Amino acid sequence: MTIKTSQTLKDLRRDHRNVMLLLNMLEFEANRLAALDEPDYQLMDDIMRYLTTYADVVHHPKEDRIYGQLRVLQPQQSEVLAQIEKDHGEIARFGIELRSDIEAIVSEAIVRRDTVAQDAHNYIEKLRGHIDWEELEMFSLIEEVQSELDEQALAAGSLGKSDPVFGSDVEQEFQRLFTSIQRAINPAQT
Ligand SMILES: [Fe+2]
Ligand SMILES: [Fe+2]
Repeated sequence: MTIKTSQTLKDLRRDHRNVMLLLNMLEFEANRLAALDEPDYQLMDDIMRYLTTYADVVHHPKEDRIYGQLRVLQPQQSEVLAQIEKDHGEIARFGIELRSDIEAIVSEAIVRRDTVAQDAHNYIEKLRGHIDWEELEMFSLIEEVQSELDEQALAAGSLGKSDPVFGSDVEQEFQRLFTSIQRAINPAQT
């Protein structure tokens, strides 16, 4: 008998693949910044706008709802779940900081490049580590209880906001980011 994989879990894994791709692109630009080369600030700004408006606003709350159900089904996991909540808060804080650093550069304010490069590396490391942890440990825990998950409640809690970059319709304000992603995935075709 095959167990139906939770649709929410599938969506979360897809988001993780997309976020990992964006973190690689962001890291490439942050390395240029650290090497005193000229990074693509506009691209960094687009990536951070996506991560702070989609990953923090849609992806993490979606996880929080699934972890909320896990907390009820497996109360012995409450400590590790509290750490996840803390991580989500920290990622959002680091992300807002980095986004405002980059926005300041784009609007030609004077910002220390080494500070921005360091903030970018801290953010990338934190978010990558968080995703790896979720994929290796937390999602396995969810898989163990997935037949007991209330998918309807998970779907009902959703904001109904679709992914503005990787979804079926690319939003106008993310068109430039979408093109950069296509170029990064398939440089030969551009
Ligand atoms: Fe998470
Ligand atoms: Fe996640």
